[in-house]
Amino acid sequence: MRARVSKRAVVAAMLAFGGLGLAGCATVPQPSADVAVAPAAGEDAVVADLLSRMSLERKIAQLIQPQINSFTVEDMERYRFGSYLNGGNGGPGGNEFAPAADWLALADAMYDASVRPLPGGEPVIPTMWGTDAVHGHSNIVGATLFPHNIALGAAGDADLVRRIGHATAVEIEVTGIDWNFSPTVAVARDDRWGRTYESYSEDPQLVARLGAALVEGLQGNRDSADFLGDGRVIATAKHFFGDGGTEQGVDQGDVNGDIEQLIALHAVPYPAAIEAGVETIMASFNSINGVKMHGNRDLLTGVLRERMGFEGLVVGDWNAHGQIAGCTVDNCPDALLAGLDIYMVPDDWRVLLDNLVAQVRAGTIPMARVDEAVGRVLRVKYRAGLLGPEARRPSQRGVAGRFDLLASPEHRALAREAVARSQVILSNDGVLPLRAGSRVLVAGTAADDVGQASGGWTLEWQGGRADQLPRERFPNATSIWEGLRDGIAAGGGSATLSVDGSFTQRPDVAVVVFGERPYAEFAGDQRDLVFRDEEGLTHLRRFRDQGIPTVAVFLSGRPLWMNRELNAANAFVAAWLPGSEGAGVADVLTGARPATGRLSFSWPAGCDGQPVNGQVGALFTLGYGRSLAETAPLPVLSEDCAALANTDTATVFGQGRLGQGVSAFAARIGTAGDGELLPQMRGDMSASGVTVRGFDRDAQEDARQILMRAGSRFGLVQAQDSGGAWRISYEVLTRPSTPVVLRVGQGDDAATIDLAQHFAHAEGKGWREMVITPACAPGLGQRIAFETQGDISFRISAVRREHLPEGTPCAF
Ligand code: BGC
Ligand code: BGC
Repeated sequence: MRARVSKRAVVAAMLAFGGLGLAGCATVPQPSADVAVAPAAGEDAVVADLLSRMSLERKIAQLIQPQINSFTVEDMERYRFGSYLNGGNGGPGGNEFAPAADWLALADAMYDASVRPLPGGEPVIPTMWGTDAVHGHSNIVGATLFPHNIALGAAGDADLVRRIGHATAVEIEVTGIDWNFSPTVAVARDDRWGRTYESYSEDPQLVARLGAALVEGLQGNRDSADFLGDGRVIATAKHFFGDGGTEQGVDQGDVNGDIEQLIALHAVPYPAAIEAGVETIMASFNSINGVKMHGNRDLLTGVLRERMGFEGLVVGDWNAHGQIAGCTVDNCPDALLAGLDIYMVPDDWRVLLDNLVAQVRAGTIPMARVDEAVGRVLRVKYRAGLLGPEARRPSQRGVAGRFDLLASPEHRALAREAVARSQVILSNDGVLPLRAGSRVLVAGTAADDVGQASGGWTLEWQGGRADQLPRERFPNATSIWEGLRDGIAAGGGSATLSVDGSFTQRPDVAVVVFGERPYAEFAGDQRDLVFRDEEGLTHLRRFRDQGIPTVAVFLSGRPLWMNRELNAANAFVAAWLPGSEGAGVADVLTGARPATGRLSFSWPAGCDGQPVNGQVGALFTLGYGRSLAETAPLPVLSEDCAALANTDTATVFGQGRLGQGVSAFAARIGTAGDGELLPQMRGDMSASGVTVRGFDRDAQEDARQILMRAGSRFGLVQAQDSGGAWRISYEVLTRPSTPVVLRVGQGDDAATIDLAQHFAHAEGKGWREMVITPACAPGLGQRIAFETQGDISFRISAVRREHLPEGTPCAF
């Protein structure tokens, strides 16, 4: 981040400029006299001096971290937040696909606003920006997307992870961002958890080793001169602690057990990260033995500070403090009292700030705790070079603005190496390596889909397949298909892409690429380990029936029960979520590189989802993985799985996402057709007079707030009619003053239900259930649409189809 300046240079500069902040050109606002207390005086003196001159309001502002789309540059100038973040769906000006230059410009604007001189000699403190560059700088169009952590666990090489950390830091600094919320050092112990792919391994020692390596790569070696120097950023070990140990793998859930045993498993990576110099640690959403981590003084202060000796800052997770018993998102002294230093409070920062100030004045929060927390924030800033004469605007640091370094040839080569080294061959009867000169058919919708290969936390929080994140969003990528095409051609063979598996010329071998759709956090939670999408299985079986040997390439964020696919394929490769350099997959399949990836998670023998850690219940144990020379066939595996019958086709919208095969759309009333699609109804989106925003009901973004302008239509449609009544959880914010109807079904057969009265009645009454049965909509059908003549706003959380007893009346 900073240009390292030798002590002598600092002293010389101070003499020349009388201690003023000076670096950079004169027209640019710099942290001026106020902040540039002589750094040669040392960290303690600098921090003590600043604290002695800061007002209470400015101190609290150091502890408040809002999200870029919920405050303005003017707010930054007025309040002087100590830090801010872009969430998974945030971007400059509300555009998450904004070009890298816009991110850098925003970083400058925020920095400048944070260092404008304050009256009365109050010191100014540069702000800092945090992001989730969790597999490369993954919010930025055109950045290198490295494989997710689970894949790096399979590669198992700390040096590789260190190099990835460095490359990621360089790309982050290019865009002017200071701080990365990575590495995740969860020890995931139940693969049903939707964040399993963020975990390097179920083995705490491996997580500790690789987590520490990423910290070193991001920040630089703590003992070297380049620590937090150019091309380095602040790292975060997260989420402290127990995130990977929740009951049944439920995200943000409960961890239970003897505390010392839990520490000995789930907290193992923290001392290693601290030893590596990690400057920040993020508290976890989960509770431990019934107490939410954000309010757990024994663990946040007792264990992390006193026992483990952590001296950096503890940042909260997204509104997680609001989950502490007795807290709300905008009122929560408890977290600070428990040992949290920064509140991540994306939207409700203003009220939280006021409340904290009042609580200090009232004596609820001791000033000493505030000074301790602010002191920690300032120390991190000091070590990152943000305080003192070497402080620079984001665009003037190290490699900032070097957009050519985003996905530079070196970074792409590194990503490709990581992909190749993370491929784990689970079975192979000799079809691999693909023989030079052979005719290869590449099938499956995932083969040419970089979005799917990249998983969640890719450009968008939830990531997306090509229908949401098309190829143009990945200007610097090689899809798996493209890698295979080139790799096979290099061996004198020929490859054809045939998504649906059809062919005119019979291939020698077929490669079937398939896998999980992208997801992040709780949206990826499962109740069992069944992989329900049968596209790949159908291809594999069809090729087998035609006598064509197959290679299954499985893209996933975790091991799943794959016995059916393993039985059907001649070779099976766990490719994880490789990211933007799909050629690494081809490198192993063609034998251009050896197959050295080994499982960092045991692979389940059964589908029900009992944890399979260690040796128990595993089909393939930890460390399993074949070289290309091991070609003994697998025995035929049992395909019995009771949970297979539990197909949940009836979710239209739930847990924050649309059900399988469901689309949402917006249209102007009176126009033909479905108008515009609202993919996943994500983030803040507007179309045809309908605005959709994420809303936290019981969990983050598990609900949507919908604002409909006069004359608009908002609808949900299932690809296939699952049958049954419609059940909608909703809350009315503003009732209509004009007609509003719910249209159920299609075309002339549709039933029209007048909602005006029901909505008027429901306004301000909180969450309610609407049940639409044949009693008011005789044909039901696969489609519903709200249509309004005036502005209305409401929220929806769950929308389901349910088979209810005959004669059930409609309810609102
Ligand atoms: C996640 C964190 C992440 C934060 C900020 C949360 O939802 O749990 O891992 O760092 O959002 O984006
Ligand atoms: C989403 C949040 C999510 C966060 C993670 C945001 O953009 O709206 O719900 O937790 O990203 O960073």
